[in-house]
Amino acid sequence: MTESSNLLRVGAVQTNPVFGDKQANQKEIEALIHGHEADLWVMPELALTGYEFKDRKEARELAEEIPDGESTQWLHKLCRDLNCHAVIGLAERDRDEVFNSCIIVGPDGLIGAYRKLHLFDREKLRFDPGDRPLAVYDIGKARVGMMICYDWIYPEVARTLMLKGAQVIAHPTNLVMPYCQQSMRTRTLENRVFAVTANRVGREERDERVIKFTGRSQILSQLGDMLAFGDESHSSCLVAEINPAAADDKRVNPFNDLIADRRSEFYLADPERVRPGR
Ligand code: ACM
Repeated sequence: MTESSNLLRVGAVQTNPVFGDKQANQKEIEALIHGHEADLWVMPELALTGYEFKDRKEARELAEEIPDGESTQWLHKLCRDLNCHAVIGLAERDRDEVFNSCIIVGPDGLIGAYRKLHLFDREKLRFDPGDRPLAVYDIGKARVGMMICYDWIYPEVARTLMLKGAQVIAHPTNLVMPYCQQSMRTRTLENRVFAVTANRVGREERDERVIKFTGRSQILSQLGDMLAFGDESHSSCLVAEINPAAADDKRVNPFNDLIADRRSEFYLADPERVRPGR
């Protein structure tokens, strides 16, 4: 096998969705990726519905079942037509529950789904917290782990995906704070994994609340290098070619290895918290 056959083209689609208009948002994604080639596309959180649901009822109405809902079916067709894989964030309905989820899909259909573990701000009024373990999926050319937006603030998430074998972290986002992009460089460095953060731009004004999204989608190497990035305000499409196997080398120098040097006997899973003043 040649070296180039091991390479993976990863893409981040930075969108500006119209709230509630799934078809317009599908069309925007199709137009953005038209003329670009990637083996793995990553699209934003809640990419087809928009973000700022008025309440849980509205989130539930726009949510869909996985894999039977129209968004999963649309993405399956896209992956089949383009012979690629893709990760997208979407609102998931499962009986009475509603999750802020993402899915990984390939030419043969759904491969896996993830339900956001760490809900941000008013998401807590609209969604149920994720109830499934973090998982890594082998798509042939790479092992891919998924996390959603605010999961970035918990280093445990990226670390767990790395320990489960992820070479690439697919990270759909709807970021509103300015810290994630920088933090993800640390997540990639401390875990030696590639990361594709696909963010959105634009604003949503609903019930007199205005939310502005920060763009600056990025593709990072396993050493924290910026391979491609978007701006703050325009829809765009970024692509970079990576060698996923580089993420398997956890050696820092002849004496240090990121995994072998862990002192997990000292890292309690849920240490007794020290609360100053109590
Ligand atoms: C976020 O988690 N959407 C900020």
